[in-house]
Amino acid sequence: MKSILDQDLRLEGKKVIVRVDLNVPMKDGTITEASRIVKILPTIKLLIEKKAKIIILSHIGRPKGKIVNGMSLEPISKKLSNLLNKEVLFNKNRINEDTLIEIDKIPNGSIMLMENIRFYEEEEKNEDSFSKKISRLGDIYVNDAFSCSHRAHSSIEGITKYIPSYCGIQFVEEINALKKITSKITKPITCIIGGSKISTKINIISNLIKNFDNIIIIGGMGNAMLKNTGVSIGKSLCDEGYKNLVEEILRKSTSHNCQIHYPLDVVVSKKLDGDGTIKEINEIKSDEMILDIGPKTIESIKNIVEESNTLLWNGPAGYFENPNFANGTKKILEIIADKKGRVKNKTYAVAGGGETVAVINKFNKLDTFNFVSTAGGAFLEYLEGKELPGIKALK
Ligand code: 3PG
Repeated sequence: MKSILDQDLRLEGKKVIVRVDLNVPMKDGTITEASRIVKILPTIKLLIEKKAKIIILSHIGRPKGKIVNGMSLEPISKKLSNLLNKEVLFNKNRINEDTLIEIDKIPNGSIMLMENIRFYEEEEKNEDSFSKKISRLGDIYVNDAFSCSHRAHSSIEGITKYIPSYCGIQFVEEINALKKITSKITKPITCIIGGSKISTKINIISNLIKNFDNIIIIGGMGNAMLKNTGVSIGKSLCDEGYKNLVEEILRKSTSHNCQIHYPLDVVVSKKLDGDGTIKEINEIKSDEMILDIGPKTIESIKNIVEESNTLLWNGPAGYFENPNFANGTKKILEIIADKKGRVKNKTYAVAGGGETVAVINKFNKLDTFNFVSTAGGAFLEYLEGKELPGIKALK
């Protein structure tokens, strides 16, 4: 893969399209955690130094091809500008011929952030004509969004067919770290998967079974496991239609000797901003939501972690944004930190994902891990041994 770190790469006056991942957690229009923005700074600073015209593309959330007010990148352009101590032009117009003229006019070393690329339905469909259209915004393309590289979308994959394409600094860093991890890890390997992106991750679990000794499924994913093994989960977050997949996960786990664990008890509430009550899984009422794991589940996670040499973690155990439901997630962090503290050289711990990074920072536990990746789904797919479309496209 060609990288922008290549000394001979001349970029003065060149229009450089940089795909980054600015999919950061937001609440009421305010950024609650900015790690993903901080991570792109080295690439942007290098491009400024090289006097390129920088055109940033990113998504936030899943607007499904529609313009959604709460999913604008505008607040993020302000944060980026603060972090760089430099103006960031925000372009909220639809991409068309005028965009090319506007970009041509910006001085070398300046930055223009385009509006959420997922406001275009062609983006996720990876439509060729759209890939070509966005490629015309620049002379070269840089992927610095490893965490989106599991998506065969126009701004990740399609665009690389039309202009010379390179990887950015963070992209290289993530791949090097993950390569090292996959070559270093020793058994028993435990993967803890939580979070709310059930549809993305439930498919991945089935493919991870062959590589791991234990998979602990919590958070929204845990709800899917409970629901499809006959537990009434009330109004907990969960989509329909995972029965076959859950059955496949359980079947495969037996044949591959991988233990699947999911919540033994939970913390429920009627409201996201309510208080929690600990319940056995057969006690959940129809108007209650599962918002955290309970003490028995935490104890069982502690025992599994104790017996593991490698720990991979993606996704919180509950709705940690409300302190009443943050206990499970916090305890997992403490359990991993405690194990690492006692048997440092024998325990390898890696975490990944936007929400996971937010949690680790919130509880000040960055030092607990050998590596923290900004990537969630991409991190898991990489662990699966899959070649990600965004990586393949750059080769
Ligand atoms: C992530 O948060 O993992 C990336 O931004 C990708 O988001 P997606 O799962 O909506 O594609």
